[in-house]
Amino acid sequence: MAVWVVIVAAGRGERFGGPKHLELLAGRRVLDWSIGAARSVADGVVVVLPAGEADRDEPGADAVVAGGATRSASVRAGLALVPDDAEVIVVHDAARPAASADLFRAVVAAVRAGASGAVPAVPVTDTVKLVEGDRVVETLARDRLVFVQTPQAFAATALRAAHATASDATDDAALVERLGGTVVVVAGDSRNLKLTEPADLARLEQAVR
Ligand code: C5P
Repeated sequence: MAVWVVIVAAGRGERFGGPKHLELLAGRRVLDWSIGAARSVADGVVVVLPAGEADRDEPGADAVVAGGATRSASVRAGLALVPDDAEVIVVHDAARPAASADLFRAVVAAVRAGASGAVPAVPVTDTVKLVEGDRVVETLARDRLVFVQTPQAFAATALRAAHATASDATDDAALVERLGGTVVVVAGDSRNLKLTEPADLARLEQAVR
C-alpha cells in the first residue's frame, strides 16, 4: 500500500507573529522535524508552503506547492500532487514538529486495518462547557471527549471524496466524517503539542529532544 504524506505549512502564523515552520527548534527548522518523521512511513512527501516560498526545493520533500486561503484549501493543493496510486494519505500540520515516527506508523496501521480515517487523540482533562455569549448552556461529558492531533491518516479514496466537496473544517477527519466515513482514534501523544505561541517553543524543544 503506497503511503503519501501531505505536510501543511502555509498558515500565516498570526498568533505566533510570523511563519512558524522556519523557526529553529533544537537546531533544525520546525518543518524539518515533520518531514523527518513523515519519511519513516512515506513513499512520498508533499510540502505545502506559503505562496512566496513555494518556488524553492525543499530538502526531503518530493513536491512543493503553494497553499490556499484556508487550511482545507492548502490540503487540497497538496492532495492534487499526490499520485493516483497512493492508497493511504496522511495529512500533518507542520505546526506539530514533535509528532513521532511511531505516531505516523500508528495512524497508518489503523487505516490499513480497515478504517476510512485514523486520528491521534488524548483525553480531555479540563471541564468543557458549551456557551452562548457569556451564558453556559451545557456542561459536556468529559469522558466522551478527546483532543485530536495530527498526523491523520486516510484511505485515499475517502480523503479525496471528502475534499471534492471543497468544504472547510479545522481538520480533515471532520470532512471524512461528514460523508459517513469511519474515523477511529489511536493513542495520541501529550508531547505532540501544536506550536501556536512563541512560549510553546521551549516545551517543544524539550519534546523533540
Ligand atoms: O491555523 P492552524 O493552527 O489551524 O494551522 C494548522 C496548520 O495548517 C499549520 O501547520 C498551518 O501552517 C497550516 N495552514 C495552511 N494553510 C492555511 C492555514 C493553515 O497550510 N491557509
